[in-house]
Amino acid sequence: MSSTQPGGAAAAPLPFRALLPPPGGADADLPAAYAYPAPLDRPWVRANMVASADGGAIGPSGRSRDLSSASDRRVMGVLRGLCDVVLVGAATARLEGYGPVRARPSWERLRAGRPATPAVAVVSRSLDLPPALLAEAPEHARTLVFTTDRSPAGRRREVARHADLVVVRGASVTPAHVVEGLAERGLYRVLTEGGPVLLAEFVAAGLLDELCLTVSPWLLGAGAPRIVTGGPGAPEGPAGAQSTPVRMAHLLEAEGNLFARYVRG
Ligand SMILES: NC(=O)c1ccc[n+]([C@@H]2O[C@H](COP(=O)([O-])OP(=O)(O)OC[C@H]3O[C@@H](n4cnc5c(N)ncnc54)[C@H](OP(=O)(O)O)[C@@H]3O)[C@@H](O)[C@H]2O)c1
Repeated sequence: MSSTQPGGAAAAPLPFRALLPPPGGADADLPAAYAYPAPLDRPWVRANMVASADGGAIGPSGRSRDLSSASDRRVMGVLRGLCDVVLVGAATARLEGYGPVRARPSWERLRAGRPATPAVAVVSRSLDLPPALLAEAPEHARTLVFTTDRSPAGRRREVARHADLVVVRGASVTPAHVVEGLAERGLYRVLTEGGPVLLAEFVAAGLLDELCLTVSPWLLGAGAPRIVTGGPGAPEGPAGAQSTPVRMAHLLEAEGNLFARYVRG
């Protein structure tokens, strides 16, 4: 049987490559597999998200950690070690209990010549943020908070005492504001850990360069949101349909999890 291209023209059948059982069996070099493009002259926005086999992003506990595993946490550790900044929406910071990133001994080589830990950047209208994220951040990785001039003024003053606060005019911080703010601070290797609302905004703005997706061997059923969603926090509702081509840069497997790396264009 021959395949058909979007335009309708018949194409030669494409080969299928067997990835499992693994052809080699060697432990993949994760830092090399996930290295950011270099050199960078602008922020490169990489997302790391986990989804169930049937596409759900939030487990029964209301968090994504139901879908995680030792191998997923290992990849997450390498990705955090490689980045300059971890970017999250405030709902994820609240629900997952975000604090400053803790240094790991395995990062010594990954972070040579850079601060010991990446900073955390958070986007919020309410400025209802986990206290540890503000008060416990080290001087070399102060938390960066993006908000609007409509956020509560008292909270803005409080946040500004601890964090680097960026206030934009209007109802929303746009992904372009975030990218510009990170660029001004030389934070080019960006790792966004979601959540689905923030990620949808980056996809809609065409500002997501890369998606690292863990497909976790669970079924969550119909109620679970996807890794991108309008949802609460997006007053204008779900973003319109997107059709952005990506290419698969790699596909790894561990413990029945698939680790796909998709790069735009
Ligand atoms: N499967 C995965 O890989 C994964 C990854 C991360 C999170 N999650 C799950 O996703 C859920 C949380 O994610 P979510 O999608 O609901 O929320 P989210 O994207 O983490 O955060 C949404 C919040 O971010 C702020 N925000 C977003 N866009 C903004 C804008 N343009 N301007 C100003 N502020 C903006 C608002 O904060 P305020 O409310 O403070 O105004 C908004 O309520 C949790 O259940 C978490 O476990 C799953």
